[in-house]
This record gives sequence, C-alpha cells and structure tokens, in this order.
Amino acid sequence: MAFEVIYHGLAFPAFLLLAALSLLRFVLYPVLFSPLAQVPKAHWSCGVSPIWILWARYTNKENRTIGEAHRRYGPIVRLAPNEVSINDMESVKTVYQGGFDKHQWYSVFNNYGVPNVFSSIYAKHHSIRKRMVSHVYSKSYLHSSAPLAAQADVILNTRVLPTLETTSHEGQAHQGIDVHSFFAAVAMDFISAYSFGLQNSPSFIQQKAYRDHWLGLYRARKGYSFFSQELPLLSRLLTLIGPYEIPGGVRISASAYNLHRDERHFPHAEIWDHTRWLHDNGMDDERQKEMNRQFWGFSSGGRMCLGSNFAMHEMKLLVAAIYTNYTSHIVDDEGIEPTDGYTSHPTSGQLWLRFERIMSL
Ligand code: HEM
Repeated sequence: MAFEVIYHGLAFPAFLLLAALSLLRFVLYPVLFSPLAQVPKAHWSCGVSPIWILWARYTNKENRTIGEAHRRYGPIVRLAPNEVSINDMESVKTVYQGGFDKHQWYSVFNNYGVPNVFSSIYAKHHSIRKRMVSHVYSKSYLHSSAPLAAQADVILNTRVLPTLETTSHEGQAHQGIDVHSFFAAVAMDFISAYSFGLQNSPSFIQQKAYRDHWLGLYRARKGYSFFSQELPLLSRLLTLIGPYEIPGGVRISASAYNLHRDERHFPHAEIWDHTRWLHDNGMDDERQKEMNRQFWGFSSGGRMCLGSNFAMHEMKLLVAAIYTNYTSHIVDDEGIEPTDGYTSHPTSGQLWLRFERIMSL
C-alpha cells in the first residue's frame, strides 16, 4: 500500500516531466528555437512533422508540390522538421560544391550491396572511386578516343540508320517507331560498348526482344519518388544558405525539375519551345550565359554526373546522324507529359515518330 502511494506520487510528476520534455523536443524546439525555425515553411505542419512532404512523395507529386511552395515562399523552404528545399543557383552552389555526404537513400542504387560511384554515401569514399575513372570521361579524352569513334561508327551506321530505314518504308509510314524505347537502346549500346568493348556488349538496338525484356524489368522497379531526390546531407556544423543558418545533419535537396521551371530564367517554362536555346530567337550572349548557369540537368560540384561529356557527345553524334539523313514527324505523342519523380519519363512510356528520308540532290 505504502509502495503504491509512493509509486503513484512519483508517476504523475514523471509523466508531466516526460510530456514537457516531449513538447519541448518535438514542438517548441523545431517550431521556435531550431535555426530552421527562421526558414519559411512550405506548409504549417512542416515545423513539427514530415507528413506533408511524405504524402506528396507517396502520391507522386513531390516536384510539383515543392515547386508550388517555392513560388509562394521563395527559394529556400522548409519541408519537414529536419529538411529544407533550395531552388536558386547560389544556394545550390553552396550545398553542392563538394565534401558533403549523400543521403542514405542512394544505397538503393548499390549493386548487390556494393556501393558504386553513383550510390556511395560518404564524400571521402566517393572521391577515391570517382578519381579512378573520371579521366576516361573527360571531354578531351572522349573527343580523341579512337575506340569510341570506331564504336560510334558501328552503332550509328550499322544499327541506328538501318533500323530507321526499315521503319520509314511505305508500309510502316503511319506507325513509325517508339523512340523512347529505341533511344534507351542507343544509350545502352553506346555506354556498354565503351565500358566492355563492342564484342562484349549487347546490341539492344537490333535485338528488340532482348531489349524489351530488360526494359520491362527496368520499368517494373519502383519510381523512387516516395523517397525523392535526397541530396547532400550537411554534415558540417553550420552553413549559411541565403540568409539562413542551417545546422549540420539537415537534409537539403534541389531538383532540376524546379530549377528549370523558374520563370525568371526560363519564361513560359512549361511550354515546349525548341527555339528556346537558339541564338536567332533574339537571344544575346548574356542571356545565353544566364540560361547556361541555371541549367542543372547534370547536377554540379563534386557529385555532378560522371557521364555528362559522354552523354553530350553521344547525343550530338546521334542527332547529326539522324537529321542529316531523315526528317521526323510525330505519329503519337499522347502522354508525353513527364512523370513527377526522381527520374522522369513520358507518362505513357512511349513516343512514336515517323522518319522520312531526305532526298539527296
Ligand atoms: C542525358 C544523359 C544523362 C543525364 C541527364 C544525367 C544526369 C545525372 C544527374 C542529374 C546526376 C546527379 C544525380 C544525383 O545527385 O542525384 C548524375 C550522376 C551520375 N551520372 Fe549521369 N546523366 C546522364 C548520363 C550518364 C551517363 C552516360 C553515365 C555513364 C558514365 C552517367 C553516370 C553518372 C554517374 C556515375 C553519376 C554519379 C556521379 C557522382 O556521384 O559523383 N550519367 N547524372
């Protein structure tokens, strides 16, 4: 009996203390005292709970939802008690310049549990791995690589152009070819030939059934949008981003999706305008430089795309090879709108074009 009295006498104050501490830790601190309290919140609940951003991810609306928050509240917004989104190049430079760890989420890209250049989390581990391979992806190395030139010759002249030729025949005229699948095959053939040699790599361009098998597996995977593009974790003590002091351990993200939809740099950003980057569209050098600065398709800094020069080289060769020989027409672009996720693709997963041979004079 005496024990019970003492127990009850103690339990109530202990409960009150626990409740007060929880209130301080989970409500008052994040909302009022955390350095992040100064950052505009994307939603009223973001100071106390991540539920708002998790729901946007779960419903595949993350990029759009964050874009709307940036339009309302500016280039730096708080998404959750411990998470911030940035949408201007100055802040992006601060975060991405190098030395930061990536978020654990990237380990989903490990190969059979082994981290690679893309998925490695820790800055130190990553920079050792990247240094080992980066020279063979530099612009000068690629442009003077005889093996790459020979591989490109085979891929373009014996695979790409003959395939387009068969689809441009009279009987095929109305159907054309699904270039979403076709160009995925071109990209895979280029990079696997460069990595393993032509003899040791597949021809996804010609082996359509084999390609469909692998594309099927690739598309069956989760779109990863629920986990979002979670980028470097600020592991230093305090970093000044814009006017805000961001403490260590906060998750910070940016997205090309939203940087490329910033109307200050790209007016009418939602409109597909193939003349946007052309000089004869009234664009001067200064404007061009500004657009280039804002372009973030390959990310930037220490975790920038390793294959950006390779991809640009390949795309230029491909476009030149195709459009010196053919002109193209849209057959079916239903569902061409991009999906909202970490990686994006046409909602329909396809784009049908018809190629027509340019008559030589
Ligand atoms: C148009 C084609 C491509 C685009 C738009 C692209 C875009 C990107 C982006 C945005 C990142 C940063 C991802 C992040 O931090 O979450 C990245 C990283 C990376 N990309 Fe690409 N990429 C392309 C082609 C390639 C190719 C052909 C390769 C093959 C070598 C490649 C290899 C890598 C690697 C290894 C990383 C990780 C780099 C690091 O963490 O240091 N990419 N890419």
